[in-house]
Amino acid sequence: MYDNFIEYYLGDACVCNTFVRMNTPKRYLITSALPYANGPKHIGHLAGAYLPADIYVRYLRSQKREVVFVCGSDEHGAAITIQAMKENTTPKAIVDKYHAMLESNMHDLGISFDIYHRTSEKIHHETAQEFFTTLNNDGNLQVKESEQYFDDSANTFLADRYITGTCPLCNYENAYGDQCEKCGTSLSPEQLINPKSTLSGNPPSKKKTTHWYLPLDKHESFLRQWILEEHSSDWKANVLGQCKSWIDAGLQPRAVTRDLEWGVKVPVEGGEGKVLYVWFDAPIGYISATKQWALNNNQDWKPYWEDKETKLVHFIGKDNIVFHCIIFPVMLKLHGNILPENVPSNEFMNLEGDKMSTSRGWSIEMDEYIQDFVKKENGGDMMVDALRYYLTAIAPETKDSEFTWKGFQDALNSELVAIFGNFVNRTFVLMHKLCNGKVPPLHQDILDESDNKILDDIQHSKKTIEDCIEHYKFRDALFEVIDLARKGNKYMQEKEPWIVAKQLGENGLPVPEAQQRIDNTLHCCLQLTANLTILINPFLPYTAKKLCHMMKVVDKMLEWENAGKRNLLSVGYSLRAPELLFRKIEDAEVAEQIEKLKIKSKKIMDASIDKQATDATSVPKESKPTIQFDDFAKVDLKTGTIITAEKVEKTDKLLKLEVDLGAEKRTIVSGIALHYKPEDIIGQKVVVVTNLAPRKMKGIESNGMILMAEDNNGKLVFVSSNVSNGSNVN
Ligand code: MF3
Ligand code: ZN
Repeated sequence: MYDNFIEYYLGDACVCNTFVRMNTPKRYLITSALPYANGPKHIGHLAGAYLPADIYVRYLRSQKREVVFVCGSDEHGAAITIQAMKENTTPKAIVDKYHAMLESNMHDLGISFDIYHRTSEKIHHETAQEFFTTLNNDGNLQVKESEQYFDDSANTFLADRYITGTCPLCNYENAYGDQCEKCGTSLSPEQLINPKSTLSGNPPSKKKTTHWYLPLDKHESFLRQWILEEHSSDWKANVLGQCKSWIDAGLQPRAVTRDLEWGVKVPVEGGEGKVLYVWFDAPIGYISATKQWALNNNQDWKPYWEDKETKLVHFIGKDNIVFHCIIFPVMLKLHGNILPENVPSNEFMNLEGDKMSTSRGWSIEMDEYIQDFVKKENGGDMMVDALRYYLTAIAPETKDSEFTWKGFQDALNSELVAIFGNFVNRTFVLMHKLCNGKVPPLHQDILDESDNKILDDIQHSKKTIEDCIEHYKFRDALFEVIDLARKGNKYMQEKEPWIVAKQLGENGLPVPEAQQRIDNTLHCCLQLTANLTILINPFLPYTAKKLCHMMKVVDKMLEWENAGKRNLLSVGYSLRAPELLFRKIEDAEVAEQIEKLKIKSKKIMDASIDKQATDATSVPKESKPTIQFDDFAKVDLKTGTIITAEKVEKTDKLLKLEVDLGAEKRTIVSGIALHYKPEDIIGQKVVVVTNLAPRKMKGIESNGMILMAEDNNGKLVFVSSNVSNGSNVN
């Protein structure tokens, strides 16, 4: 039996507790979704795809399993070119800037990728092209001609993201060609009402073009079998649910090329001027990253993608499910690669009562957190673990969750500091005070039930934590670690070694029996501390490191197989003084962050309103075709005064008005509620179209229409006149 993990431990002699699980995969390949290098990424992304993967990987590494953890920047697609337009620079400059930022942010937050690659690298372009060519040569792609939106003035086809218009479902006016950000529906550009090109502001025309398609419809039965049958019990319910609705809705061939400049060039004949669709090339980024990792480390990448004994796991956020569970697996299958064993996808993390969004400024960017907490005097690694702790404790594993600064403060102050930190600190302080700073012996003859119980609890917790992590339940796993520390506090509180120490003998020293009881308590607390170090390590690696330093043990102790042991620290070994593991978050910090968030989002929203106003003045308003005088003469326009106004129930936009037209009064329903309060427009002079056919809105018959003009800020203003009611307007 080895003695302990004292700092000068050299050998690797002990294999006594090593066990091999049934069905342990030969190797693991773990991926986190490649973030777009189009801007900073927020802590919701961190909580969704990076942190859980990192916990899993650290756990696997501590199990001495063979594991490679890959990620990198997604540097293609409209996300990048649109950002370049916004920043008035080139796509290349954008990806260089944000790739560097993301890489360093991930590193600073302890995300331990084996490689953080990028899709603009040559090796990636080659890998993606080879993949496409193989699929194409094997007859697995279809070539089809279709009509697509085209911007005549910019002389270019329009990617879905470059088209905006009104959402057919919720009427939001700035929906994108691929998605409405208001109601979350995925759209195709054809579904938008009044589509407009974001390049010129003009309505797009249509033009014929040829593209390659992945015929997903041909793989429906494979997907049904593989996802809904083989994985029906091990994939998360949210993932299975999304897959099922996609499959049930009927899979369609999906275009995998685009008419764009920026991206991986289509490598086959007829592909000139075209690139691979970003969602075709990006996941192949996992493969090219693995290749680059293998090159850097003198390894073979192939088994990671070709050997069935590799366990491939993709960590993603819920907006990526279809790509990782349906499209990419079909590509992998056709190309002869292994398929993912699991795709643990998280839901979203909201922030202070609203959706987290970088573009609206309602977010905490990883970079901001690092500047505000980690790179501060009272920050450092401690604050990295603080964030890792809270994000895991509120991980959106089964449903959306919410980050609040108050919640962050509470979790830190009342769990990390008050439970975990407190237990470790008391143990160390008392050990120095009552046991000469050394690991006290264990006196077997007086070992009692509660001593045994706390040592058994370690075993029990270890199993629970393993089970949770293996099933991607990181939140529960972390809870179990904290719960074990809580039990430690309770045990210490029951044993009260500081009270026992008062049972002094005649010569002023504790009676031997008292000292033995103190020894046993602190011995158990110290072994528990060492165990907690192993168990917390995947979640809070910096804390584990600090604890190792305090206990003067080497990293080797952190190997998972050591968890549960009762003799991690050997008797008589002297330990260092306790260090501060975590600090409290002050009320003032909470207030400051909330204030900062509000200011930031207001600034961004104001800037975008200003921009819309400038856009509105600089882009000439679209005009309708010429009409004949006769057409105009058909419209009956009269002046009137609004005499009553009230909101129409269950709508945001509509007001029910009564308008005095001199000879008669009319009820008119008008969509101006977002611009005017009912009480503010009573008495307002208006111009009314009086011979419009009546129309029912929300059950109210509207008999006419009020003419309004839209000012530069998009606000509707009255076209008023000061003549008497009922006058004709010619
Ligand atoms: N860039 C995508 C996003 O942020 C994720 C790409 S994941 C990959 O939503 F598999 F395609 F790499
Ligand atoms: Zn919508």
